Amino acid sequence: MKIFIDSADIDEIKQTYEWGVVDGITTNPSLLKQAVERRAAAGEKTDIRKYIEKILMTAKGTPVSLEVTERESKKMIEQGRRLFDMFNPVAKNVYIKIPVNPSFSEEDDIHFHGIEAIRTLAKMGIPINCTLIFTPEQALLAAKAGAKILSPFAGRIDDHLRKKMNIDFKKTDYFPADGIIEKGAPVDDNGIVSGIDLVRKCVQIVATYGLGSEVLAASLRNPRQVRDAALAGAHIGTLPFEVIKDMLKHGKTYEGMKNFTRDIVQEYADLK
Ligand code: G3P
Repeated sequence: MKIFIDSADIDEIKQTYEWGVVDGITTNPSLLKQAVERRAAAGEKTDIRKYIEKILMTAKGTPVSLEVTERESKKMIEQGRRLFDMFNPVAKNVYIKIPVNPSFSEEDDIHFHGIEAIRTLAKMGIPINCTLIFTPEQALLAAKAGAKILSPFAGRIDDHLRKKMNIDFKKTDYFPADGIIEKGAPVDDNGIVSGIDLVRKCVQIVATYGLGSEVLAASLRNPRQVRDAALAGAHIGTLPFEVIKDMLKHGKTYEGMKNFTRDIVQEYADLK
């Protein structure tokens, strides 16, 4: 599974690229806001255009998703095109991120505007990452419209299921991939028993019908969920910086290191 960093923080991004463990970047309006506010709190003013260019250069050779902020298809298409034309020349690695359905509620009359924007932009040759996917059906439509990347939000499905079960939880808590059994069956959201179940079903549909899109497991909050996403066959997992760091931690690793360090034969360490 490819690993992307889910961040708009240039320091985090640079660090993970230096470590050589990431294959791309996903950003979204909330992540960009956090990054800009963090810099403002540190007394730094951000020139957004230059800042994004820096991110793109750091990621040269790997994809970076930039999300539209418009909701109406025509405007999303204009903004998607504009962002692509403005930023893709920097390092030729821009994906435009489009929500699968930009509606705020069922009453909104713009349910297919995301799909329309994906279709049009994909036809222009602009690679699309379709975001905010919460059902395999949404993934199927996005793939048919031409999205190269499909982004199901695993953690947020888990939040939704835990709320349904009145479970107290922290955002980073592990949620079992096979769901939580209540009254003899896993609690579900229209047949989806966990975020990983959503990812697994998206992967299955893409593979069964050879749709050619990649499934990117988004909203992953802890290392075990990353493992589950990889085992579910996700092509990509996008991870916050903290989760990438947590992936290396284990008490027995620390203990083993202490023992190996205690047992060093000085003559061996001094070999030149
Ligand atoms: O890539 C989507 C991601 O940023 C959402 O994560 O943890 O806010 O659900 P989260």
